[in-house]
Amino acid sequence: MLTTKDLGVANEELGSGTVFADENGARPHTVVASKRISIFGLGYVGAVSLACLARDGHRVIGVDIDPVKLELIRNRKSPILEEGIQELMRDVVNSGRVSVTADAAEAMRETELSFVCVGTPSAANGSQDLTAILRLAEQIGAALALKDEFHTVVIRSTVQPGTVEDQIEPILERASGKKAGVDFGVCFQPEFLREGSSIRDYDHPPYTIVGGNCEAAVQKVRELFQHLDSRFLVTNIRVAETLKMACNAFHALKITFANEIGRVSQSMGIDAHEVMRLVCADKRLNISPAYLKPGFAFGGSCLPKDLRALTNIAKQNDIVLPMLSSLLASNRVHIDHAVDKILKLGRPKVGMLGLSFKTGTDDLRESPLVLVAKRLLGEGCELRIFDPEVQLSRLLGANRSYIDANIPHLGSLLCGSIDEMIGPSDVILVGLQQSALNDALQALVRPEQLVIDLVNLPNRDLLRCRYEGICW
Ligand SMILES: NC(=O)c1ccc[n+]([C@@H]2O[C@H](COP(=O)([O-])OP(=O)(O)OC[C@H]3O[C@@H](n4cnc5c(N)ncnc54)[C@H](O)[C@@H]3O)[C@@H](O)[C@H]2O)c1
Repeated sequence: MLTTKDLGVANEELGSGTVFADENGARPHTVVASKRISIFGLGYVGAVSLACLARDGHRVIGVDIDPVKLELIRNRKSPILEEGIQELMRDVVNSGRVSVTADAAEAMRETELSFVCVGTPSAANGSQDLTAILRLAEQIGAALALKDEFHTVVIRSTVQPGTVEDQIEPILERASGKKAGVDFGVCFQPEFLREGSSIRDYDHPPYTIVGGNCEAAVQKVRELFQHLDSRFLVTNIRVAETLKMACNAFHALKITFANEIGRVSQSMGIDAHEVMRLVCADKRLNISPAYLKPGFAFGGSCLPKDLRALTNIAKQNDIVLPMLSSLLASNRVHIDHAVDKILKLGRPKVGMLGLSFKTGTDDLRESPLVLVAKRLLGEGCELRIFDPEVQLSRLLGANRSYIDANIPHLGSLLCGSIDEMIGPSDVILVGLQQSALNDALQALVRPEQLVIDLVNLPNRDLLRCRYEGICW
């Protein structure tokens, strides 16, 4: 299995590039070598890929089951409406590098690499309807059986994680009688184009991501896209499949966020555009990787309180905010997930490293770790807590009241050292990250103990004990 690695800016490898000038006006592009490519499915993704790959100097055969689309392309017309596509389709068909057919076997025979771009629409129950892609896999597999040449199949349709390795590859192997990763290559390369600007997006993707089952197949894709001014990243197939879904979910989340902030701002007579413009002006905490690592629940004296206030304002103004109102509930589910991981072991002795809501503070207010401790005590677990920042005698005001209300006998649970906490524990819940504590944990844990990591421990591979991440 190929692992994630950043292969750097693609242009670095372009020393031996060849320039293909078009006789018919299509923009000349630099490619390493002209390839013979088939594209299955000539919808938005397939038609744009066909036109752009042919423009880049490759010989492309388009395949579709829809005769109308094939006839349109034969007549130098695009089957889809997109900025610049009509002119580009006319030019690339005129160049003689494009042909179309309904015959999958013929397209496979004539090419060395295939892109699969057929639709994967929603079924009635919300699952993905994979009928078209799985049926096509049968045809591609049968055609592979007749080929001596190494052929690479690149799935570009969006498919649910596991589809390529658990469904498509087995079909290809069975129908071809050949071994995936050895006799033919399979890759998944998510498509990031947006309808309306898809030619521009094809030329300037955020990055090119490929998951592949062998280096030879990945290399074929790299040769096709390394001239783009974006990074070429290699990962495994399942990650690439999940990434595509995560990206689309993130886009949907951002749109919904902006719209919910818009509605609540409007209800207060506040300029929503100005609010969101300034939200986006913060590139350090807002539009950045900050807060985007899987980890533990949020808490503290600000996020839960201010979210409650914002959703309460909306309620008073008769504004419904389904997404923002669901955040605290989702956060609670994450806390329950940690507690469930522990309780499914019976009623183990638990050691907690950390109690405050984040590393570097003794603020216990709305700390999710306090809620975990409270739940575990309620379930009858024996608990020991070590947090070097938290000293009972120094807790004052609201911080003290919060802990008195939730864990009144905290004093009897706090340990004076990390050894005292780890020694008798079956499970160690790590909610604090400091290099000295990481080292101590590494030195003290025993093979029979289980560490549940809430903080992405950097030295987890060195822990000589059982290990589970909270959500990884
Ligand atoms: N449209 C986008 O902007 C976009 C962006 C990224 C990813 N995707 C994904 O790419 C895939 C394709 O999307 P689309 O919008 O281009 O779909 P589309 O519905 O526009 O086109 C799919 C094409 O596949 C053809 N087809 C179906 N079965 C076939 C077969 N056996 N052989 C050959 N052709 C066949 C259909 O006739 C159709 O022309 C989907 O999985 C989609 O989720 C789409």
